[in-house]
Amino acid sequence: MKKVVLALAAVAGLAATGVQAQGYPTRPITMIVPFAAGGPTDVVARIVTDNMSRTLGQQIVIENVAGAGGTTGITRAAQSQPDGYTIMMGHMGTHGAAPALYPNLKYDPTKDFAPIGLAAGTPIVIVAKKDFPANDLKGFLDYLSKNADKVNMAHAGVGSVSHSTGIFFNSVVKAKPTMVAYRGTGPALNDLMANTVDFMTDQIVNVAPQIQGGNIKAFAIATPERSPVLPNVPTTKEAGLEGYEVSAWNAIFAPKGTPLDVVKKLSDALMKSLDDENTKKRLLELGGVIPSNTERTPEALQKLVESEVARWTPVLKAAGATAE
Ligand code: MLT
Repeated sequence: MKKVVLALAAVAGLAATGVQAQGYPTRPITMIVPFAAGGPTDVVARIVTDNMSRTLGQQIVIENVAGAGGTTGITRAAQSQPDGYTIMMGHMGTHGAAPALYPNLKYDPTKDFAPIGLAAGTPIVIVAKKDFPANDLKGFLDYLSKNADKVNMAHAGVGSVSHSTGIFFNSVVKAKPTMVAYRGTGPALNDLMANTVDFMTDQIVNVAPQIQGGNIKAFAIATPERSPVLPNVPTTKEAGLEGYEVSAWNAIFAPKGTPLDVVKKLSDALMKSLDDENTKKRLLELGGVIPSNTERTPEALQKLVESEVARWTPVLKAAGATAE
């Protein structure tokens, strides 16, 4: 008798999941963005979910849950119901650097998620306040080496992209600026433009408009080639800095256990969004990189997370970075 009951329960469970996935989504979806509104993670999330909402027929509502370099929001999302109604925008910090910096991290980026897909590649740019007493990367590094105790670097919390790429930068150039944490690099950029913080390494989609507007300085972009939206910003190599090439990425995840049909609907909607001319235009004009078709799959994202955790752990440990 017990076996019959268990079998019926299993069938009912599958049926419920099937029914849920079949009609999914029947109500708005929450996307947790683990940083303050207005920063790069938030901007990429709003751009790609605009078209996704239309495809899915339900609004994807952004909820900004900042703190602890993005790990607060991602922890909450990881522990939410795996029903497709809570997803998240993670990135190279929350799903790559964080394990090296948070020994007691409450999630494993490689195990506790259902990857949906890569949303955008985001090259890193070394930017400074307009009043900074240097006009190129060489002058900046020279000033840093002579005034380490006077320079402060903004970031979005330990383990964020701006923090981990900043730690990496400081270890390459052997600088020790004072680190100033923000709830996102949106607020950090406001202070950079107000000349109240000195520099940061940030994602191009956040800083490109302010560089183009002459409101902040850009010393170099940390990619092998220049960005088409910042043609006058040299690469780190062109500017004489070897060994500092880094690009971040933003990607959508659901909690582990989200039904496969739901994952597929979300993945298909993301892929459609990345083929949408308006989505592409908005990402490209901010210097974002549109993932190729092979880079967009859930399987490709799982592999990327595994490789990024493996890559950043030794880099950050060598730099002596810890959060806790
Ligand atoms: C980061 O540094 O991880 C992000 O730029 C933070 C943000 O999106 O505000």
